[in-house]
Formats: sequence, structure tokens, C-alpha cells
Amino acid sequence: MSNETVRGDAFENLLREERQFAPSQEFAAVANVHEEIYAEANADRVAFWAEQARKHLTWSKDFTQTLDWSNPPFAKWFVGGEVNAAYNALDRHVEAGLGDRVAIHFEGEPGDTETITYADLTERVKRAANAFEALGVAKGDRVAVYLPMIPEAVVTMLACARIGAIHSVVFGGFSAEALRSRIDDAEAKLVVTADGTFRRGKPSPLKPAVDEALSESGHTVEHVVVVERNKQDVAWTEGRDLRWSEVMDSASPEHTAVGHDAEHPLYILYTSGTTGRPKGILHTTGGYLTQCAFTHSAVFDLKPETDVYWCTADIGWVTGHSYVTYGPLVNGATQVIYEGTPDSPHQGRWWEIVQKYKVSILYTAPTAIRTMMKWGSDIPAQYDLSSIRVLGSVGEPINPEAWMWYRGAIGGNTAPIVDTWWQTETGAIMVAPLPGVTATKPGSAQVPLPGIAVDVVDEAGNSVPNGHGGFLVVREPWPSMLRTIWGDPERFKDTYWSRFEGTYFAGDGAKKDDDGDIWLLGRVDDVMNVSGHRLSTTEIESALVSHPWVAEAAVVGAADETTGQAVVAFVILRGEADLPTGEDATDAIVQTLRTHVGHEIGPIAKPRHILVVPELPKTRSGKIMRRLLKDVAEGRDPGDATTLADPTVMQKIAEDLRN
Ligand code: PRX
Repeated sequence: MSNETVRGDAFENLLREERQFAPSQEFAAVANVHEEIYAEANADRVAFWAEQARKHLTWSKDFTQTLDWSNPPFAKWFVGGEVNAAYNALDRHVEAGLGDRVAIHFEGEPGDTETITYADLTERVKRAANAFEALGVAKGDRVAVYLPMIPEAVVTMLACARIGAIHSVVFGGFSAEALRSRIDDAEAKLVVTADGTFRRGKPSPLKPAVDEALSESGHTVEHVVVVERNKQDVAWTEGRDLRWSEVMDSASPEHTAVGHDAEHPLYILYTSGTTGRPKGILHTTGGYLTQCAFTHSAVFDLKPETDVYWCTADIGWVTGHSYVTYGPLVNGATQVIYEGTPDSPHQGRWWEIVQKYKVSILYTAPTAIRTMMKWGSDIPAQYDLSSIRVLGSVGEPINPEAWMWYRGAIGGNTAPIVDTWWQTETGAIMVAPLPGVTATKPGSAQVPLPGIAVDVVDEAGNSVPNGHGGFLVVREPWPSMLRTIWGDPERFKDTYWSRFEGTYFAGDGAKKDDDGDIWLLGRVDDVMNVSGHRLSTTEIESALVSHPWVAEAAVVGAADETTGQAVVAFVILRGEADLPTGEDATDAIVQTLRTHVGHEIGPIAKPRHILVVPELPKTRSGKIMRRLLKDVAEGRDPGDATTLADPTVMQKIAEDLRN
């Protein structure tokens, strides 16, 4: 953990927030869950989850024990139970006569559309399951998925789940290098990708990154299945590469789903931590699906018969896993999947989509809300958004101004906003208002969900009283908790369970207000949050120092009005390096290093600013004082630098920046 402290002054302002928005009587009366649910869960937390598991899922074999916590922090939920995720998301709805219900309204970037019913989706997943099996993918094998936001992404994930293969989705914005390290770490047997996607009306390639990732020998990949999405010519490795259409057309549409053990691994999803290497977060089947389905129903008040739900997250992030693929489909929802960006071909694209499909539940990130706010309220005002009845927010703290704008400009001043706190590791929502119960406060995620034991503690792990701040922890195991870090159980223990012995430490700072409501204050470790994307300072530092010009690098997340944080890097160049010279030398160096980070990790990790400095501020024990760099990056006077090994360093940096 770094020496950064919780941002106290920001909280003082939040505490002055007195606005509250109680649910309307009409909403509350027909809400999926009511106030009593908290008491029910409090009375017997474990029994509560057993009830949710049986209510929301169809088990092939019932479980005999709800929770086995005999070997913490390694939890087993729904012991002895067997369940198939794909059967729950698909077949059972068709068997219940809902085959004609729309599962996915797909809106392609160029404007092409597709309406996919539950019957259609089930058939596609059955074909894909047969196809993957025919390619030698067996239960427990890993499948890397590197796809745009197209229906095939959902089909691939569910086909893997159906046959018990473990998917590892890699965000399409990550580079070949990032993809390679994830393929290698998971030892994937199959990669599913696309020729490419579209960005701002133009084809944007994906397959070349897969080719590059697999260019060196030593990997475990046997086949690459390529969805023909943007129909561009791509290089082809005969024998290894296969066309999605051919593979699926020749596969049988019949496939029987068998139940997998409740603790059978469902997927690995890599996320950035405080060290250079991304962690493969492992989620298993029964507990994960239970909490996804329960939260998707309770927090969004989903009415599957009438709602049209749209979560704007990409499938490459956990939000796309839990609230595009698993939660909504297990609940039989109708949802929108959109391939493109919010401003292409115009800044009203999202609202056009809401109007077109009559979206009633919208789930997005504060960074998007702030961007739209900047574009102006007159843009959403041109569309009929009256279908909207619940709004969700996720990924970073939402500032009260953005919250109020969201409620007014998008929610017609009536739709409740649910600010949902959770993480890749938690698998599903942990802290959020319940829209028919909680009087919401702009900027606060407020209350732990029923059955979830979240607390805010001080340095010693003691619960803080109302009105105080500290660290967010989870005191009791929860169904969708990560089970381990793929291949590294020790790292799992160290990272999450050692700061406060026996308690899950989330890495977030938080405060309780006078009512005991929780306000998230951002990360207290070296993890940054840029546009709701999680990035590691150390990972970007490693990328920078892997360039021959760079001797040392320090990266900080500087506050940014729109993106939450922006990546700012401080680098020391190697004296002996063959550096560009001349007037534009610094610009050339900075451009080269930005491109290099893009190549190592992906465009999202490119620093907004790179500052070339003569030295970095370090403590006497050699630790970089990122806090001081953050002050500089955010335009503040770093103040007291006396703990530094060389107290004049900050002066040198400041002078250098002025020149
Ligand atoms: O800092 C918290 C922030 O996002 C982190 C988790 O990032 P990731 O694993 O990528 O998952 C994002 C989507 C669930 C958390 O540690 N975060 C997430 N939601 C919120 C949030 N911070 C404040 N308020 C939220 N609602």
C-alpha cells in the first residue's frame, strides 16, 4: 500500500450534500424488493444466499452446504450443487416458452442491426459449444476471447461456460503484447477474435494483434476462430486459423447442457494491480451467477417482461461479464448491445438508441456522463427518453454535479439513480441503493446490499464511527467473490487478505456520513482509474522503463474533470541513450514513449503527459514519493519535502517544468 491518504477535504464537501431523493410511491409499490429484505438477510446471511441461489437459478443438482469457509480465504459456495451457466441464461427460458423474447437488440457501429431472440441465441451457443468441442476444447481448458462488442462475444462466452471451458476475455483495446501475456498466463488453447470492428465509421483491425501475440513459438494456442465482422483482408495462418461462419455452419445446433460443479471455474479476467503483472481474477460458477442474477434484479428492479436494459460497458471489463452476459441473460432480460462510441456519427447516438429501443434501464460510467454533460443538455433533449425508469452508475465515484445532471437530463427528474460500487474481484455489485427502497444521495453508493458485510475501518481494522473515513473492507465471504488469482494463490492471500487479517481489503478509501451511508473516495493504492478503466501505475512504469531511452519512470493519476484521472508520467532519460536531438527533440521523445506504452499495454494506458525530469523524489529508503509528483501534476505546490533523500529534487523538477 502506498503512503497516500484518503482525500479528506473532498469528503468535507460531500458531507454538505443534503439533497435526498426518495423513491416515488408508484415505484416503491411494485419494486422487486422492499425494505424487509435487509432484515431478512441480517437474520441469517448464509440462508439468505441459499434462498437467492434457488430462486434465481435452475440447479441440475441441488447443493448440500451453502458456504464452506473452513479454509479462508478460499471459499466454497453451494457445495455439492451442479449448475450450467448457459442453460440458465438460455435453454430454460426457451423451455419456459420465452423463445421469441428478444435477448439482444444489436446495434452495429455502422448502423447495421440484428434482433436476436432467446431461441436464436440458444441455437448459436449450442453450435458454438459443438464447434469448440470439435476443435478439442474440453472442460477446464482456457479460451482467450479478443472481440469487439458484437453478439459473437456473448455467444463465445456462453459456449465456453456451457462446455465448462474457462473464458479469458481480453479487452479489444489492449495491445498484442498485453494479449500475449494473458494468453501465456492462462495457457489458452483457443483464441476467438474478429478481423476487426469499426471505429468512427472506419474499419479498425483486431486480428493483426492476435497474429503478433502468437508470432513467437512456445504458446499453447492450437486454433484461432475469426469472426468476419468488418470484412477486411487479414493475414491467414492455414491450419491454425478458421472462419467463424464456416465453423458454426458445419456444427450441429443440438447440444445438451450438463451441470458443472458450483465451484467449477467460469472465467479468468485480468485486472491491474499494484504490481507490474496483471492478475488473473478467477470466478467460479454457482456463487457468481447467484449474485449476478440477484443484484441485476434487485438493484436495477428488472422486469424482464417489459424492460429494455442497456449496459454500455464493453465485454472486456467485468461490468460486461456480469451485467451484459450473465446477469441479464440469466434473468431473461431484453438488452441492447452497441458496438460503437457515443459520438459517432454524432453526439446524440446514445440517445437515439435509447429512443429507438425504448431503453428503460441504462447502466453506464461517470466519465461518460460527464462527457455528455460537457456536450450539453440540448443534445439528449432532442430525443424521447421517457422510457427511462432506472439509471445506473459504475466504475468510479460519481460527483454530485454529474449525478444531478444524469437525473435531470437523462432521467427526467424521476428515474432513481443507483450508484453501484464493486470490482472485478467482487464479481457483482456490493454497495448500492435499492431503487424502490433507498432515498438516494447524489454522489454516494450508500448501503451494502442485503447479505453483504461491507464496512469502513481505520488503520487498525476497527470499524469507524459515522462521520469518519478509512478503508473499505468486506468482513464476510460473499457468493461472487474471486476464488483466487489464477496460478498464484499466495498472491491472492497477500493482495487482499493480509492488510487486515482475515478481512477482504478492496483498495478503496471510503467514509461513512452521519447516517452511516458510504461514500467512495477512490483508490488508496497505486491503482488509477481513467475513464472507469483500471490501470496500474507500476504496470505503466514497467512499460516505460522497457524502452531503451528510459532509465527510470514514475507514474501518477492526476485528477481530471472528465476522465476522473489522467495518466501523467515522469521519466528520467538514460544519459548514454541515442536520443533524438534538435529543437523538437523533447516532443519526439515524448511521442515515441507514448506510442511505446500503447504498444506494450494498449492505447488506454498512453500517458496524457510525459514530463522529462532530471531526478525523481525518493524517500531515504528509495521509495518514489508519488504523492509529491501528484501535487506537481495537479498544479499544486508539493509543500513539505523534508522526508526526501534529496530535499532539492522537487525544486529541480519544478524549475525544469517551468523551462
Ligand atoms: O476504485 C473502485 C472503482 O473501481 C474499482 C474497481 O475497478 P474494476 O475492477 O475495473 O471494476 C470496475 C467496475 C465494477 C474500485 O476499486 N469503483 C467501481 N465502482 C465504483 C468505484 N468507485 C466509486 N464508486 C463506484 N460506484
